[in-house]
Amino acid sequence: MIKLLFLSYVFVFTLFADEPIVPIPLDEPIDIPKAKLGKELFFDTLLSRDNSIACVSCHDIYNGGADNRVVSIGFNGAKGNIHALTVLNARYNFKQFWNGRVNTLVEQATGPLSDPTEHNMDPRKIQERVNLSKKYKKMFKEAYGTYTITYELILDAIVAFENALTTPNAKFDKYLRGEIKLTQDEQEGYTLFKQYGCITCHNGINVGGNSFQKMGTFVEYNATATFPDRSDVTHNKEDINVFKVPTLRNIAKTAPYFHDASAQTLKEALTIMSKHNLGIELSSQESDKIILFLETLSGDMPKILDTF
Ligand code: HEC
Ligand code: HEC
Repeated sequence: MIKLLFLSYVFVFTLFADEPIVPIPLDEPIDIPKAKLGKELFFDTLLSRDNSIACVSCHDIYNGGADNRVVSIGFNGAKGNIHALTVLNARYNFKQFWNGRVNTLVEQATGPLSDPTEHNMDPRKIQERVNLSKKYKKMFKEAYGTYTITYELILDAIVAFENALTTPNAKFDKYLRGEIKLTQDEQEGYTLFKQYGCITCHNGINVGGNSFQKMGTFVEYNATATFPDRSDVTHNKEDINVFKVPTLRNIAKTAPYFHDASAQTLKEALTIMSKHNLGIELSSQESDKIILFLETLSGDMPKILDTF
């Protein structure tokens, strides 16, 4: 088994060794009973104080996994202070949230559940409510072999669902696997993406999600609102305006863009990015080609949403 794993590692490594972007695995293992239970919880307003909000209220998993509103609306109409990130492929991010304040999806999930502007709940209350439900009693018994539903198990199930939210088989992944060719414009877009240096920050399996970078490396960026950036975590002045580089997977579906949602379209986002983070001005044709490349990063819908 270990030998096999090693061989497949060598194979994958050799196959994609020249490319700075790696395809999403086609057969990421899923614990179906746990993921199904997590899906139920993800959609359930029972987890919010006034039964009005569910995770899905701000994460449209059927369409990109983020929120098309500038800031999300949570408990009792409360407005958040930062644009929602996508939950799709979040398992591949090195840290979670724009400022990377937590390392794991488990730690992440406690955030919205207790945030007064989101679900506004505490662990005890969530546990109480879920334990009162016959449906959940049955599902937890099936998935975890117990009728005693703890807050930890609730988080575990939500994370099992999030782990199933991957979008493999994007056109670009098929290209990386040597199954298809890109069109000439898509190929040129990818070449520009590498030549101009977008790739230095947006690379790896999530085409981002693996480093912190300053918004405004070349030209200072004045955000349209106040927000918790990386300096909020490190208390280091150098981290002002520093964020986790967001994933570009399914980016064609997650407008508006940036932590402050200041760009409505990909074209606007590219103009801002190239000016502030590369110090260049893209021509309209270059920008269009890069967008055609970015559109090849939209993958299949996660199987857990339809099949199970
Ligand atoms: C009221 C809207 C709202 C609700 C409800 C909500 N989220 Fe979020 N979510 C956001 C916003 C906004 C962010 C970005 C916040 C930040 O980075 O500071 C986010 C970030 C995330 C991230 C981090 C992704 C990344 O790339 O770092 C994950 C994962 C996530 N949410 C999962 C969940 C889960 C699970 C639930 C339900 C328990 C949930 N969210 C409920 C708005 C919401
Ligand atoms: C120096 C690192 C760096 C470089 C170079 C860079 N980016 Fe970014 N990119 C970021 C960061 C950081 C953000 C998040 C900024 C924010 O929200 O304030 C981002 C955000 C984005 C977004 C919006 C994502 C979202 O979900 O809102 C797109 C699209 C994007 N970049 C594309 C590109 C393209 C195309 C290039 C090359 C022309 C590029 N980036 C170059 C670091 C970089």
